[in-house]
Formats: sequence, structure tokens, C-alpha cells
Amino acid sequence: MPRRRIGVGVTGRLALLHAVAHIELNAIDLAWDIIARFPETDLPKEFYDEWVTVADEEAKHFGLLSDRLSALGGAYGDLPAHDGLWRAAENTSGDILARLAIAPLLLEARGLDVTPAMIAKLEKVGDDESAAVLKIIYQDEVGHVATGVRWFRWVAESRNLDPQRAFKDMVGQYFKGGLKPPFNTQARDAAKFPASWYEPLSQ
Ligand SMILES: [Fe+2]
Ligand SMILES: [Fe+2]
Repeated sequence: MPRRRIGVGVTGRLALLHAVAHIELNAIDLAWDIIARFPETDLPKEFYDEWVTVADEEAKHFGLLSDRLSALGGAYGDLPAHDGLWRAAENTSGDILARLAIAPLLLEARGLDVTPAMIAKLEKVGDDESAAVLKIIYQDEVGHVATGVRWFRWVAESRNLDPQRAFKDMVGQYFKGGLKPPFNTQARDAAKFPASWYEPLSQ
């Protein structure tokens, strides 16, 4: 038997799943980082509980993706990955309000915008297992954005800031360029992320 090369379809899927796995791995670290890094002493116990849940779910996501990668003949680490997410983490390491604005409210919410198209693409090529993994991730990520919104509001209000105004200021200060539409308003609404916060910042 001649050795079969992996088809273009599998290569593309491996690249997609690898990219998402990289994001999830960073997301585990980001969840623990927000628990440990910031000096705010008045955060209630629920803050820590909720981010532990997020960390647990990010680890689950990475595990599910690792399983899909190995089912397709790959593994995390096979491909290069860019460090945009970790750079965002470093940039916002001095202020919890900036971290909440950029990590859950900007980057994870962006995940909600783009994931449905990825799921559709995987289903189109018949990879229902990978699509099912992304559906789990998508559902959980609505919760992560909701956690981000809740605590962004809490920290802004504890500093006597208007949350909408504070979000605009944080994005202006810590993010280059505008936010990229189209937004998944349905999922963002489900996370109680007000369109009035992000729509004016649209590119
Ligand atoms: Fe995740
Ligand atoms: Fe997440």
C-alpha cells in the first residue's frame, strides 16, 4: 500500500483545532492569573469561585481539543502559534479593570462572534465530532463573557466609574484599533453584555 498523505481537509482542520487549543491553553493561565495577580482586597468570594469555574472549563476545552487533534493524527505543539493573547495578558497585568475589558469582554466575546462559522464549516465537511466540541466551548464561553461583564461592572462601580464609559476608556488605552463587526448580538445579549458598550467602538 502506498502511504497516504493527509488530505487538505484534515490539514485545515488540524490547523483550526490547533489554533483554538492554543487559545484555550492561554485561557487556563488567564483564569488563574486573574485569581492570583491583582491586589484588590475587597473582591468577594464569588469572584474567586467564578474564575475557578472558568479555569476548570478552559482545561476541559483544551482536553476536548487535544482529543480531537489526536483523533486526526496531530497533537498540540505540532504547529506554531502566535502570542497575541499572552501579550494582551502582559499589557493588562497592571490593572484588573483593563484585564477584564480586554480578556473576557474583548477577546472571549470575539470568540462568540466567530465560533458559529467555524462550527458550520466543520459540519459542512462532515466532522461532527469537532463541531460538537466547538459547540460545548461556545456554550461555556457565553458564561465566561457573562462572568467578565459581571466583574467588570463590579470593579468599575467600586471605583465610582460608569461601566460603559470605563469600558470605552480601557479599550482605547489597551487595544489598538476598533472592534470588528459583525457582532454575535444574540450570544452577547445572553452574556448580558450591553451593545451600548461595544457598538460605539466598532471599526
Ligand atoms: Fe474556553
Ligand atoms: Fe473562556
